Amino acid sequence: MEPDEEQAGPEEISLLDEAVDKSVFKDCSQIAFYRRQKRSQPGKTLFRGLLDSVTVGKDCTKFPVINEETKVRLQVECSEVEENVFRLKINEESPLKPRFEVPDVLPRSLVTRGLTAHPGNRGHLELASGAWKLCVAAEPFRIDLVTKEETVLSVNSMDRLYFEPLETPPKHRGPSTRREEDLSTSSSQGNEEDLGLWEEKWGPFVDVKANGPSSVGLDFSLPGFEHVYGIPQHAQSLQLPDTSNGEAYRLYNLDVYGYKIHDKLGIYGSVPYLLAHSQTRTVGLFWLNASETLVEINRRAALEVSGGPGPSPSPAKKKAKCHTAVRWMSEGGIIDVFLLMGPTPSAVFQQYGRLTGPPALPPLFSLGYHQCRWNYEDEQDVKAVDAGFDGHDIPYDALWLDIEHTEGKRYFTWDRERFPDPAGMQDLLRGKRRKLVIITDPHIKIDPHYSLYSQAKAKGYFVKNSAGGDFEGICWPGPSCYLDFINPEVRKWYAGQFAFSTYKGSTDILFAWNDMNEPSVFRGPELTMPKDALHHGHREHRELHNIYGLYQQMATAEGLVQRSGGEERPFVLTRSFFAGSQKYGAVWTGDNVAEWSYLKISIPMLLTLSIAGIPFCGADVGGFIGDPDPELLVRWYQAAACQPFFRGHANRETKRREPWLLDPKYTRLIRETIKERYTLLPYWYSLFYRAWKTSLPIMRPLWVEFPTELETFGMEEEYMLGNALLVHPVTKPGATSVNVFLPGPAEVWYDFRTFARWDGAHTLEVPVTLENIPVFQRGGTVVPAKTSVGRSTGWMAQVSYELRVALDSEASATGELYLDDGHSFQYLQQNQFLHRKFSFQSGTLSSSCEDAKGKYHTECVVERILILGVERKPSSVTTGSPGGKAQEVDFTYCAATSLLSLEKLRLDVGADWDVRVR
Ligand code: NOJ
Repeated sequence: MEPDEEQAGPEEISLLDEAVDKSVFKDCSQIAFYRRQKRSQPGKTLFRGLLDSVTVGKDCTKFPVINEETKVRLQVECSEVEENVFRLKINEESPLKPRFEVPDVLPRSLVTRGLTAHPGNRGHLELASGAWKLCVAAEPFRIDLVTKEETVLSVNSMDRLYFEPLETPPKHRGPSTRREEDLSTSSSQGNEEDLGLWEEKWGPFVDVKANGPSSVGLDFSLPGFEHVYGIPQHAQSLQLPDTSNGEAYRLYNLDVYGYKIHDKLGIYGSVPYLLAHSQTRTVGLFWLNASETLVEINRRAALEVSGGPGPSPSPAKKKAKCHTAVRWMSEGGIIDVFLLMGPTPSAVFQQYGRLTGPPALPPLFSLGYHQCRWNYEDEQDVKAVDAGFDGHDIPYDALWLDIEHTEGKRYFTWDRERFPDPAGMQDLLRGKRRKLVIITDPHIKIDPHYSLYSQAKAKGYFVKNSAGGDFEGICWPGPSCYLDFINPEVRKWYAGQFAFSTYKGSTDILFAWNDMNEPSVFRGPELTMPKDALHHGHREHRELHNIYGLYQQMATAEGLVQRSGGEERPFVLTRSFFAGSQKYGAVWTGDNVAEWSYLKISIPMLLTLSIAGIPFCGADVGGFIGDPDPELLVRWYQAAACQPFFRGHANRETKRREPWLLDPKYTRLIRETIKERYTLLPYWYSLFYRAWKTSLPIMRPLWVEFPTELETFGMEEEYMLGNALLVHPVTKPGATSVNVFLPGPAEVWYDFRTFARWDGAHTLEVPVTLENIPVFQRGGTVVPAKTSVGRSTGWMAQVSYELRVALDSEASATGELYLDDGHSFQYLQQNQFLHRKFSFQSGTLSSSCEDAKGKYHTECVVERILILGVERKPSSVTTGSPGGKAQEVDFTYCAATSLLSLEKLRLDVGADWDVRVR
């Protein structure tokens, strides 16, 4: 949000550069469904399972549960999705009308299987699948997930299943008497406004609920788990703090300009997916619900009683164990939750990836550096900035145009005064193998002469207000309507707007940025769309608010693919997102501030996005709001060069901050850090390939790589980039040293720049200067890099490779390289790719094919190999094809650093070869 002044005319929305105004946004006590759910009484049995009525079907095993007091009957469906993944769906047995079930997130091909049912001990029902038993207790209703006699997770263990059935509106709108009585028994203050059943007020806004109260809630306990993560997006630490004494985490996509840090308010996007990790297991809870959602986390020491409701007949044993309880509450929809039982971090990532789709393999250019500003004013400005990069020898790949490039914030148009020749401007960038990224927001200016508006209006493509007319809200262009991206027909039409023939002045180097798609509505409740607005299929906005932004990005990505006849990969950055957004492009953390604390919080925020399935993420370098001092700006570049999406961006009221506008000593540091990013692009690209294949995040919390090391579970100052590099950004001004924890008692670590070797499992005080941030390479890995950099990724296709081989304590290492044309779908459609494996063992480094399906011709060679950790000077080094004739090569050896360097090699990247060190 950039709050507009109350009096601002439609054409002149002005900015108030002020911190987030909390009175604009609700806290939990101001949310009616939260208050209602909090009033339901814990400790009183609410639901009873009717376990005699179990039906085992092909897709699921189901049985009813009933609330004896209210007589609400629900259907519980349990199924297995794959080994170690279960789905639990709870819905009304016969709702008045179908409740909203989130479409387009799960794969269409998803098949679930029913679980066999047997009577268990003490009247329980046992649903079995592989190594797991789901032990269902009737009263109170509860399900324990048990494996090898251990209860790993319990559903409804606190007996707080909550489900508000849809009702016909009472004659005079207001709460139905029955519900009002039910809910008010626990408090003497019950009244209509408090409970917000049919109507809820917020400041001047009145939310009229056509379907009345419809919220759902369920609790889960995780015995033995102390550490939980995920549920982005909050400006919060990596490990989620407990909510016992405060606000619940809110998942509600909101435009929060200069969001407060260490806060549980929901910002721009939501992924209702939580991970829990212990030394023995990682599990995930994916709550597939797109309405406003609140999550409570209670962590406490608990007495664990084994031999409880599970199947074990052995006498009960007690031991003290930490226990985490997680309660989800959503305003609408159904309960549809996936229990991902791991057991390892990578198993959980893969399980989630199969449910919501793998992250897209992005075009290579998008892994380079992006230069953005609100706004690059005109073509001269664009040319000057572009030339500035060349003049100062700084590589970059994409120049971005914010809202001012359009004619009066009419997206898909150009302000022809400032941009008279957009195609010519793109030719200039194309000549340097660079790209242009333009913004396109979901609000459409109300202007009958604007064809996008008039077409959408005529076709009925806008979101409707509760009275059935087109919903009108204020955003950048003034009064606007909002495209109903929920409607597949609207998405198709919107995708068509990117056709070269339709989008005048666009070319094949133009890519897209979706902003304000929470959606942001300047004078709307909490700066977003009223919940009673109506979408395609008569769905209220409340039912699907959190998925609106995903649909815009989906349509935009589709448009970019289509305009190329299905040949080229899209690139779309989005501000708002939901589970599954990773399939359509990148995400950034919105309007951050040029302060050290925002640099620091960007790391856990990006780690959280990464483990919640969205690896292609970044934060505005330098901070969007305000002017960073040079030290902060340099540190931000250094941090962001080690983060997946790397873009400098600034608010329009900030001072210009292109890297060469700083004192030359800082420009040099920024140049070097961007160049280092470009040098490592082969590693980055290979990580993105792996993410696409296996859903493993690219930025990884340390616990992902060191899952049994307790010390790593709360660490967020440093992280792993893939499995090979440990990065510790510097987030304090004037730092002269930082403490870096090198995990793994058996690990060997090498300083990435000095090659100094360290043994793991200790904290190292590393002296730092402004030159760079600490990066360590883990022994046992091979990092592919380029030997030099060019103006942009496009210039570097033919540049030769360097391999950095870091030996572990057994003097071995493995790594990989993925390579393709970097822009098309040929890797997918024609297997046009190379996937190579490097392995060092018994003194021989071999390059072999990792995936024989892939064929891609490249003239590139491996020119340089650095082997770290070679303990004595070799007597000879030879290269050759396996089994073929060996050829001596020159080498240098540095005893002080144990570094063996091989230069001027000409080893074919696509061929098998060996390097023998004797
Ligand atoms: C808000 C976005 O967060 C920011 O990045 C952008 O510059 C402005 N909108 C203007 O489009």
